[in-house]
Amino acid sequence: MTRAVVLISGSGSNLQAFIDQVDQGELPIDLSLVVSNNPDAYGLTRAQQAGIDTACINHRDFDSREEFDQALLDRIDMAEPDIVILAGFMRILTAEFVHHFENRLVNIHPALLPKFPGTDTHQRAINAGEHWHGATIHFVVPEVDAGPIILQGRIQVRRGESAEQLQQRVHKIEHRLYPLAVKWFAEGRLTVRDDAVLLDNERSAMQLQSFDL
Ligand code: GRF
Repeated sequence: MTRAVVLISGSGSNLQAFIDQVDQGELPIDLSLVVSNNPDAYGLTRAQQAGIDTACINHRDFDSREEFDQALLDRIDMAEPDIVILAGFMRILTAEFVHHFENRLVNIHPALLPKFPGTDTHQRAINAGEHWHGATIHFVVPEVDAGPIILQGRIQVRRGESAEQLQQRVHKIEHRLYPLAVKWFAEGRLTVRDDAVLLDNERSAMQLQSFDL
């Protein structure tokens, strides 16, 4: 069984989506460990309620990013994961950390990368007059919010909709697609070739999904 470690900093609604799909028998992974850098993250409570091991490694306890990342890496390695899932983990990771978990470190970003890396993506998409907005699941590289794209989900931006409304709709896509991307990984269906992710050895229409919700 694919062993997964999930890193969070906050609410953990994406973590909950993984927990629910595992419970329903739809996602063949072992949620081995949840790690938060924030002791108050509600996602830690979600994990504990689901009987998953948790750890808190508070970045404020370390003098440098390098020392924090090393402690994080050591704790993750103890769980011997096949995949490390960033699910709202709000820390920039060192290149050493990223390389250590190369091709088994994934992230979700609430925008259609390469558009809108960084924060405040929903408002920026509205301000730019974008017709489509959504979420991207990708393998992590040292550059922030970049890396080979596994799967994207998109919705049409509604006229006059607020950033909060758009964010809520994008969140629904995240909860559907992040477990699907990890399922593909667990089933051994993903390969990276020339910075592109292939599904069953080809670029698939399944990797860009449009929603009306
Ligand atoms: C999500 O919007 C995700 O795209 C971003 O952080 C947020 C995490 O939300 N990286 P949650 O903690 O899973 O509810």
